Amino acid sequence: MYVISSKGNEFAKAPNTSSKQDDERDGDSLIRVIIENDDHRGQEGTVVLATVDDEEDNEEEKLIRSMFLPRTESIGSEKDLVDDDVVWLGELQDQKLRELDVQSGITKSYVGLKQIEKQLKGAEKDFLSSSGVRSSGLTEEELLKRFSLSDVPENPVLELGDAGKSVYRYMDNLVSSAVVDSVNTASPQMIGHMTSSLPYFMRPLSRLLTTLNQNCVKTETANTMTFLEREAMAQLHRQLYRESDEFYREYGQNPKVVLGVFTSGGTLANVTALWAARNRCLGADAKSEFAGVEKEGLFSAVKHYGYNGVALIGSKLLHYSMSKAAGVLGFGTGSLVSVPYGRDFRVDTVAFELAIKDCIKRNVLIVAVLGIAGATETGSIDDLDELATLANKYGIHFHVDAAWGGPCIFSSRHRKLLRGIERADSVTLDGHKQLYMPMGCGLCFFRDPSTSLTVRKTAKYIIRNDSYDLGKFTLEGSRPANAVFLHSNLNILGVRGYEILVDRSIRMVRFMASRLSKSRGFFELVVEPMTNILLYRIISPELKGYKEYTPQENAELDSLNIELQKRQTLEGKTFVSRTTVYSPVYEYPITALRVVIANPLSCEADIDRVLQNQIDLLCEMYPSLQGKSRPCFVQEEQQQAAQKAHLDELKHFPENSKKSSVEPSIQGQQRVAPSR
Ligand SMILES: Cc1ncc(COP(=O)(O)O)c(C=O)c1O
Repeated sequence: MYVISSKGNEFAKAPNTSSKQDDERDGDSLIRVIIENDDHRGQEGTVVLATVDDEEDNEEEKLIRSMFLPRTESIGSEKDLVDDDVVWLGELQDQKLRELDVQSGITKSYVGLKQIEKQLKGAEKDFLSSSGVRSSGLTEEELLKRFSLSDVPENPVLELGDAGKSVYRYMDNLVSSAVVDSVNTASPQMIGHMTSSLPYFMRPLSRLLTTLNQNCVKTETANTMTFLEREAMAQLHRQLYRESDEFYREYGQNPKVVLGVFTSGGTLANVTALWAARNRCLGADAKSEFAGVEKEGLFSAVKHYGYNGVALIGSKLLHYSMSKAAGVLGFGTGSLVSVPYGRDFRVDTVAFELAIKDCIKRNVLIVAVLGIAGATETGSIDDLDELATLANKYGIHFHVDAAWGGPCIFSSRHRKLLRGIERADSVTLDGHKQLYMPMGCGLCFFRDPSTSLTVRKTAKYIIRNDSYDLGKFTLEGSRPANAVFLHSNLNILGVRGYEILVDRSIRMVRFMASRLSKSRGFFELVVEPMTNILLYRIISPELKGYKEYTPQENAELDSLNIELQKRQTLEGKTFVSRTTVYSPVYEYPITALRVVIANPLSCEADIDRVLQNQIDLLCEMYPSLQGKSRPCFVQEEQQQAAQKAHLDELKHFPENSKKSSVEPSIQGQQRVAPSR
C-alpha cells in the first residue's frame, strides 16, 4: 500500500500490496496496485491518493474536536454501579424516606432509582461505543410490528411492593425496542444529514435542565434562565449584526423588546420571521380604524390595503418550512414565488428582480424577500448583499434562512460568503445544526428589536405588559431553558472554537470533492461544494467516463443511485442521504447522493470508508466488477490505521490524557472492518 503525505509528495510503502505501475493522471493521485492480502490476493485495484488540503489539524483544532469524543468514561464503570447500591422499597434503609413514605401515606411507592440509572447508563454507554450507523437489516416493516400497540394499560403496571421492578421492566423493554436500534447520529461515517456529535458537556447539561424543569414562558417559572437566554441571544445577535456596545446595553435586557426568539427549530424560526414580516407590512392603518392583520386577519388586511394577493419570493431551493409558514400564516403555499438558480445553485438575482416587478405589476403584496444561507440540499449561499439591495430598493422585509450556513459568520475565512446578512431584517439560525446544541433548538433574530413588537402578546395572569417574560414574543408558550446549551457553547467554544469547526467541515467536504474527482469516473461531482454539503453520483461501469448523459442514461443513473443508497442505509455501516434536485446543467431533475459533513469526529479515513462502502455495493450490483476488475478505492488497513492514529492523537491530547487510559472504547476505534 502506498500512502501519500499531506504535502502530496512523499510516498511510503505499506505492507500487503506491491505496486504495478504509477498512473499519472491529475498529477500524482492514482496508483495501480496488486493486492497481496489474503482476501484479495492477486487482484488488481486502484488506490486514489488525492492531495489533502494544505491545512492539517493543529493543536487548537484537536482540542476543540476532542470535546466531541463520546467520552463514555463519564458514565462510570460497572464498578461504580454495583448492584448493592440498589434499594428496593421492601429493603428501604433510609429512615427519613421511610418516614416520608409513611407520612404521605404512600407506603408502597418505589425506590430502585439507582437500578434504573445503571440500566440506562449502560444503554447509553453501549450506544456511544457502538460501531456503524444503524442496526444492519432493520426494516421499517420490523419497526411497524414492534410498535403496533394502540391501547393504554388500564391500570398502572406497578406491582404492589415491587414498583421499582416494574419501572425497570419498562425501561428494559424501551432499551431493547428503541434505544439499541437508534440511529447513531454521532457516527463519523454518518455523513448524510445535519445531525452530528455534540460537545461532551451537553449530556450533563441536559440532565440538569430536566432536574430544574424551568419554563421560559415567564420569569415566575424561569427567573435566572430568562436573563441568561437574553444574554445568549445578545451574544449571537452581535455576531450577526455587529451593533455597538451601547445598542446591546439598551436592548439586550430590555423588557419592552427582544433581539430575537428561541424556538424549537428552524421551521418555527422561519414561521416567526414571516409572522413578523406579515404584521409589519399589513399593520394598523393610522389613517383609518383598521387595527392590522394580526387582529383583523389576512382577508380583511389584503382587502383594506387594496392588494390582489400576497407573495413570498425566494429561490427554488428554499427549505420546505417556508411552505409550512406560508400555509400557517394564511398566505397559502401557492403564494411562494420560486426563482430559478444558476449553475452554482445560487439564486438568479436578475430573475429575482423580474419576479418582484411582476408582483408589483399585478398589485400583489410581497411580504418578504427570502435569501438562503446554506441551502439544505446543496449548501449554497445566495448573494445576500444583492438580495438586501433589492429588498431595500422595493421596501420589502428581507429574511435570511441561515438555519444551516449561519455559523460561517464565525469564520474569518468564510464569513465573506454571508456578506449582506447584516442587512437582513430577520435571520433564522438552527441551534441543533452547526451550533452543536441538542435537538430542539432554533433561533430567529431581528435586526431592529422593535420588529418583535409586531408579534407581542400579553395576558393578565402571566406575560404581563411590564414583565421580562419571554413568552410575550415567542410563538411557543411553555418552553424549556434550552438557551443554556447556546450559552454554554458560545462561552466555552467561543468565536475561535466555532471558527475551527466551520473551517474544518468545509475543508473535509473539499477533501471529499477532490477524492471524487480522482475516482476514475466511478463518482461524479454534481456541484462544486460552496460550503460543507456535497452532491455527487455513483456511475455504473457501462456509463463511466462520459462528460454528459442523455435523459435515458440519467434515468438509469437515478435508479442506480436510489438503489445503492437504499442498500447502504439498510446495511447500516455508513450513511449518505439522497435527493432529487433540478439540474441547471440538464434542465431537469436528477437524483444525487448528498453528503453533509459537520461532525467534528469525521476525518479523511471516514470519507474513504464511506466511498469504499459504496464501491463495494456497486460491485455487488455489477458482477462484471467482480474479480480482477474489482475497483478498490482505498484499502481497509490504511483506513483503519489512519482512523486509529487520528483518534489516538485526539485522545492523548493533554486535556484528555488522564481519562484516556480508563476509557475502554472510543467510538470509531471499535468499528470493525466490514467483512466481505
Ligand atoms: C435551510 C433550512 N431551513 C430550515 C430548516 C428547518 O429546520 P428544522 O428542521 O430545525 O425545523 C432546515 C432543516 O434542515 C434547513 O436546512
